[in-house]
Amino acid sequence: MEVFKTICEIREFSIERKKRGERVGFVPTMGFLHEGHLSLVDEARRHADVVVVSIFVNPTQFGPNEDLDVYPRDFERDAELCESRGVDAIFAPSANEMYPTVNTTWVEETSLTKRLCGADRPTHFRGVTTVVSKLFNVVCPDVAVFGEKDYQQAAVVKKMVADLNFGVEIIVAPIVRESDGLALSSRNKYLSVEERGNALAIRQSLLDAKSAVADGERDSTKLADAAVSRISRAGGRVDYVEIADPDTLEPLLEIGDEAVMLIAAYFGATRLIDNARF
Ligand code: PAF
Repeated sequence: MEVFKTICEIREFSIERKKRGERVGFVPTMGFLHEGHLSLVDEARRHADVVVVSIFVNPTQFGPNEDLDVYPRDFERDAELCESRGVDAIFAPSANEMYPTVNTTWVEETSLTKRLCGADRPTHFRGVTTVVSKLFNVVCPDVAVFGEKDYQQAAVVKKMVADLNFGVEIIVAPIVRESDGLALSSRNKYLSVEERGNALAIRQSLLDAKSAVADGERDSTKLADAAVSRISRAGGRVDYVEIADPDTLEPLLEIGDEAVMLIAAYFGATRLIDNARF
């Protein structure tokens, strides 16, 4: 496994492998890898000959009072995990390599980003789409894999790729969960034992909604209200519970053929997200 710190090196690596007729698969991450990220590596491997993982805590997607400075980092461990999973190359640039001057050019999706996780974080998705575009330009992947846990992020990236004609196939890989159902997240480590137990209410409320829909319930408000009370009873503070169209993320009052239920809630100071498709 090779580790590159500069744009020149990783670009040369990718172009060389593409010249050999190999497909380059890409998994963008902010590091502090867990089994969820590694499942994205496995998925990339199924669709490509070469797998590149980027590890970059992207400053432009953090707001002024968010956790950029304390975002967990452990490059040595991340590199070991990547190597053990058969990753071919890591791209781990410095902030200065990615943003050598003050950034004044942005890539912004202006519809799907306005609601849900974008409502209180007005510049978050602009940071994500900008850095993902930059990484696509640098790594030149044929296929890139994103996790379904960050459902809105994956939808925004797919829309950006379609709108701007990026030549990259986007694959969205399923959520990986602990054995008790909690979705894996780098932020789970901030939960106390009690908060972690209580946080299972998020998954349970998604499962309750799924079975209510299977039993014929179509009223989104009823389903969302039930989820809000379950999470609140468990001591969580709900940021949002929404039932939306899976592609446009427009809210659905009534569930038709397809829907996604998206939840964000705080347990203690930790904000967790999860979702389920109906
Ligand atoms: O999901 C993440 O870890 C980040 O938002 C991403 C896609 C790596 C962009 O910084």
